[in-house]
Amino acid sequence: MKIGMLTSGGDCQGLNAALRGVAKTLYNELGNKVTIYGIRDGYRGLIEGDYHVMSPEDFSDILTLGGTILGTSRQPFKEMQKADEDNTETKLEKMLKTVRGEGFDCLVILGGNGTHKTANLLWQNGVNVVTLPKTIDNDLWGTETTFGFQSAIDIASTVIDSIHSTAFSHSRVFIVEVMGHKAGWLTLYAGLASGADVIVIPEIPYSAEAIAKAIDKREQSGKRFSILAVAEGAISQQEAKMSKKEFKAAREGMPYPSISYRMADELKALTGQEIRVTIPGHYQRGGAPCPADRLLTSRLGVAAAQLIEQKKYGYMVAVQHDRIVPVPLAEVAGKLKTVPPDGEVVRAARALGLSMGD
Ligand code: F6P
Repeated sequence: MKIGMLTSGGDCQGLNAALRGVAKTLYNELGNKVTIYGIRDGYRGLIEGDYHVMSPEDFSDILTLGGTILGTSRQPFKEMQKADEDNTETKLEKMLKTVRGEGFDCLVILGGNGTHKTANLLWQNGVNVVTLPKTIDNDLWGTETTFGFQSAIDIASTVIDSIHSTAFSHSRVFIVEVMGHKAGWLTLYAGLASGADVIVIPEIPYSAEAIAKAIDKREQSGKRFSILAVAEGAISQQEAKMSKKEFKAAREGMPYPSISYRMADELKALTGQEIRVTIPGHYQRGGAPCPADRLLTSRLGVAAAQLIEQKKYGYMVAVQHDRIVPVPLAEVAGKLKTVPPDGEVVRAARALGLSMGD
């Protein structure tokens, strides 16, 4: 059996642990009936035929290693069916050629939203595919959690924890901008876990006046500082009313490197307070996976390998009710899982007295 493996899209903690989980299970259960190929830099390697045979040793000692031993790249889904730069074939046609030329029996694909759209396209075009849900954003449909998410929560929470002491010393307001793309999972979970005072997520458009009120209220009650966990994808209530086109134009004209700096200016004008911005950025995706992600990737890896052994293709291994289950790719591809604005975690935050910025 020839298995090709690739990691695609933005990296995160746990990619190597997941590769290891799949490979160890296949080697243990199929022995020399399986050959694993590492495809370099995600779909780029599949498009260009850039891959190599792996050995069991390649998967040793990588449980805690950050990044991905296979490399990764972003290959937009919308480009897959257009003629490639050399104008001969589409990227999809080139990928199909690689799969058929080498005779891969199955591809194991680790990725997030964009990656799953392309994985589904390959599956619809006759390629056997099994996928694993990767992303610190936790915004993949069909699974309650993705790997990388817990590790990123740990890092973002540690940043917010540390900001507390300096915010206290200087009696300052701090904005910590958290990754997560268009979803607020990471900001909400890290903000709650580290005692942020205000949490702003894309799913709940913010009002600068409401945030200023929350800051003033804290000051009046004798608190020396306020900490805001703000999602990089946060939008204001005015912006939420705009069409996609208007929003794009407004953001292109925004004279700030990110939403947090604009919010800092808005809040400075409203509260008269000194506001500082901290952006941990890609640090949130780096380094070793936390133990929860090591456990999750090991379980997902085993489940993915067992699907391959059963020749059950066209599925993503997912977490539902703390069990690992296969979910059809067609159900996952193209859907975004966002935070329910009235969900239990948001209600818990409000019950604890946090402002959600609205
Ligand atoms: O999807 C993971 C993620 O880290 C998002 O949270 C963030 O918006 C994006 O990737 C950053 O992308 P890049 O690595 O291309 O800068």
